[in-house]
Amino acid sequence: MRRSLALTLCLLPLAGCGSDQDPPAAARAPDRGAQVYAMHCATCHQRDGRGLAGAQPSVAGSPTVLGPADELIRWVMFGERPPTLAAYRGVVVMPAFAWLSDEDLAGVLTHVRQSFGNDAPPVDPASVAAIRAVGKP
Ligand code: HEC
Repeated sequence: MRRSLALTLCLLPLAGCGSDQDPPAAARAPDRGAQVYAMHCATCHQRDGRGLAGAQPSVAGSPTVLGPADELIRWVMFGERPPTLAAYRGVVVMPAFAWLSDEDLAGVLTHVRQSFGNDAPPVDPASVAAIRAVGKP
């Protein structure tokens, strides 16, 4: 939606769409989060966010995704298990994603909080940076 609007605006003369100009961060963030999800999460949680029964849980409607942002960040960054995450009996281990940048982590977590029918507030890079600064438990 945002992208098609941006493309439409770029067809107008004098709209300032020179190829050397980056779009504003706010316009770029949602797409980046979707890209990070497609690259690093969709293999397990699937493109539709619903996971695979018995192997990878759904991120759609997940209490961890919709719950406190700091707990969600610590889970995906360090694998620190939040109270919202039910006991798991599968065999797949979710990798930790501390190696993703603050922006990419915030983007992908905002993406999962606002896609697949989820509707929770965005995660901002400063919150990710603050948790990174405290470090792994
Ligand atoms: C190799 C497969 C794999 C990948 C890749 C993966 N996950 Fe997971 N994820 C899992 C598994 C397995 C669990 C359940 C682990 C557990 O409960 O111990 C899980 C659980 C979760 C949960 C909690 C879901 C719930 O039940 O409430 C969230 C949120 C989550 N993952 C987000 C992500 C995000 C975001 C990414 C990408 C940055 C990602 N995962 C990448 C396998 C994966």
